[in-house]
Amino acid sequence: MQTSPLQDKYGRVATDLRVSLTDRCNLRCTYCMPAEGLDWLPDSSVLTDDEVVRLIRVGVGLLGIRAVRFTGGEPLVRRGLTDIIRRTREVGPDLELSITTNGLGLARTAQALAQAGLNRVNVSLDSIRAETFSDITRRNRLHDVVAGLEAARAAGLGPVKINAVLLRGTNDDQASELLAWCAERGYELRFIEQMPLDAQHGWSRSQMITADEILERLERDFVLTAAVDPRGSAPAELFLVDGGPATVGIIAAVTRPFCGDCDRVRLTADGQVRNCLFAREESDLRTAMRRGATDDDLAERWVIAMRGKRAGHGIDDPTFLQPDRPMSAIGG
Ligand code: 5AD
Ligand code: SF4
Repeated sequence: MQTSPLQDKYGRVATDLRVSLTDRCNLRCTYCMPAEGLDWLPDSSVLTDDEVVRLIRVGVGLLGIRAVRFTGGEPLVRRGLTDIIRRTREVGPDLELSITTNGLGLARTAQALAQAGLNRVNVSLDSIRAETFSDITRRNRLHDVVAGLEAARAAGLGPVKINAVLLRGTNDDQASELLAWCAERGYELRFIEQMPLDAQHGWSRSQMITADEILERLERDFVLTAAVDPRGSAPAELFLVDGGPATVGIIAAVTRPFCGDCDRVRLTADGQVRNCLFAREESDLRTAMRRGATDDDLAERWVIAMRGKRAGHGIDDPTFLQPDRPMSAIGG
């Protein structure tokens, strides 16, 4: 097969691969999963380390992938993570390699992850108050996340980014507090509008804290000026905080969709290509691979899967249907 870039019918080219390594997690964020957790994927359908690395090799070698981000669930609960990172680094010495993690266990692993070839981490943290943190995550683990952040910075996994979701009546009064805390420590905070991806289908447009509201709250305490993101296509709108150097990002995935600039493609822990977080179809590379598909066959299936990518997520359409899989089984 000819090497083909992952171009969709609207001309967008995917170069950024998000790989979910597990759908399991050691937190239970209310906007993500119910307290009792979910029916996890059976082990037999989760890709092995070899299978993950093989698909990454196909993506990088044949399909123009230039950045790989490992997600979950929680990627740090995947046993082979360090090894997968080391092998991915061998596949692509110039790859941009990152993980999105809740930070639990990062204090123990940051150094080894950096040595294996990881470049950066994004850590999810919605509150720096222990009580609010455990209200949201249903676990009393704030101190672990804070230790993880420090370890990540010490290991050179920076700039360390922090993702935060604001929930009405829970932490929406803490936006400025969180920003001040991050700015003081050199962590780059980004607020993400809550998306309809929770397993319980509890999302509602009217409850969501919008980007405009977040900005309005922050501007009571800080002077924000638009900054240009040096990396270009990132979905965050970036602002300098009080003239800089601290910045804050707003990811208005719902109210100001950036689908037209999307350069992402996703691989689930059970080996399904998803061309969008909100896709309603997947392409099953796992079964093909286990039936003996060659790398070229896999690449071709992947190319076809991208062609079907929709123009946008359509969250605001009356006909919008939430994807069957929750965020924890897709990867952020
Ligand atoms: N909407 C927005 N962000 C979410 N995350 C998890 N679920 C949602 C949602 N429904 C965030 C997590 C983490 C990243 C993977 O996505 O907080 O930072
Ligand atoms: Fe775990 Fe992330 Fe879901 Fe929280 S949002 S329960 S940290 S997967």
